[in-house]
Amino acid sequence: MSWIDAKAHAELARVREARERQVYPLFREFETGGLHGRLDGKPIVNFSSNDYLGLTTHPKVKEAAGRAVQEFACGLSSSRPQATTKEHVRLEQRLAKWMGFESCLTFTTGYQAMLGTIVSLADKDTTLVLDAYSHACILDGSFLAAGVPKNGPEIRFFNHNSAKSLERILKTRERKNALVLCEGVYSLDGDKANLAEFVDLCAQYDTPLVVDDAHGTGTLGAGGRGTLEAMNLQGKVPIVVSTLSKTFGGIGGLLFGSGEVVEHVKHTARSFLFSATLPVPIVAAASTILDMIEADGPKLVAELQQKARYFRDGLTAAGFDLGASSTHIMPVMCREERKALFMHIALLECGVYMVPLVYPSVKIGEERLRVNVTRGHTQEELDRTLALLKEYGEAFFVLSGDDIGPLEA
Ligand SMILES: Cc1ncc(COP(=O)(O)O)c(C=O)c1O
Repeated sequence: MSWIDAKAHAELARVREARERQVYPLFREFETGGLHGRLDGKPIVNFSSNDYLGLTTHPKVKEAAGRAVQEFACGLSSSRPQATTKEHVRLEQRLAKWMGFESCLTFTTGYQAMLGTIVSLADKDTTLVLDAYSHACILDGSFLAAGVPKNGPEIRFFNHNSAKSLERILKTRERKNALVLCEGVYSLDGDKANLAEFVDLCAQYDTPLVVDDAHGTGTLGAGGRGTLEAMNLQGKVPIVVSTLSKTFGGIGGLLFGSGEVVEHVKHTARSFLFSATLPVPIVAAASTILDMIEADGPKLVAELQQKARYFRDGLTAAGFDLGASSTHIMPVMCREERKALFMHIALLECGVYMVPLVYPSVKIGEERLRVNVTRGHTQEELDRTLALLKEYGEAFFVLSGDDIGPLEA
């Protein structure tokens, strides 16, 4: 056995154990997609999907993608410098206008958009200032930039959502320039960034701010333009990075910024230049969802918000701990691995899919079910799921907080 086989075997111990106990929650093989899919031959209501406005499976979206398959096939077999279509450029122009930015660039994933943006902008004269709860794409982009020989930035972290801590870092940084990075809505905890204070601080310290609004785009703000619209901060944050993989129905990353910053990233970001073009059917699907949001955004967002409020009120009334959440992303805190895994299995048996998050995705003691309420869930589904959560929350001592006892007993 080579060392790589030995390493893989050793590090897979937890996965093997979970599979043996039949509580392994990941990589389940759906037979159909969407919020209402099929798993093991059974219909499933999906509460772990990021299809926040429920538009991913809309017939018009599928038709647009189908037409684009006929015209452009599923790929352009190259990267953007050689494989840009009018559809890509038109979507970028429309998205920039809708979001109120000079320019927009589409990447193949949101993860790549953040990596490319950070590596293109940061250099040896930069301190990257990151919220301690930053998404993997912000961390990985920063670590990648720091690894560039002789030109790597300094990386510093501030306490999650703390303006005081951010200011301390801005004051004590080593490099001439700083770039502050945070999320609009935090993907695991569902809390919103303290953006108004961050914007003021960044202005005071003459520091650009980058907001990853993957979970805010299409869900917050009267028109669905995200956290900046919701907090009345449009025009005050120079860079927003987002995704087409949630509200916009497919896959793809978005960079919003000034014309020159976006143009610079477009000519330097290796995650953009050395990776294949976003397929045109995906561009067509996103354009169709943008049509719908432009036509009906306030109504769509209000429907999502109403459902999220209803579900939150139901969970709170039942006595669940929702951590710091204040959005459609609601962690149902179980605070013990077994409780989260058992809840997940029991719910799945009843046709409700809710992914448990356990260590190392979250800290020990912060194990939870991650619940995403979407506009596509029906009232009946929300009510049934609330009743099931309450029933199993009692059965597995999530609501009482009592010890569930050893597994082997
Ligand atoms: C906060 C945040 N940023 C970025 C991403 C990456 O987006 P994509 O799926 O487009 O790569 C995600 C996806 O999970 C996310 O939650």
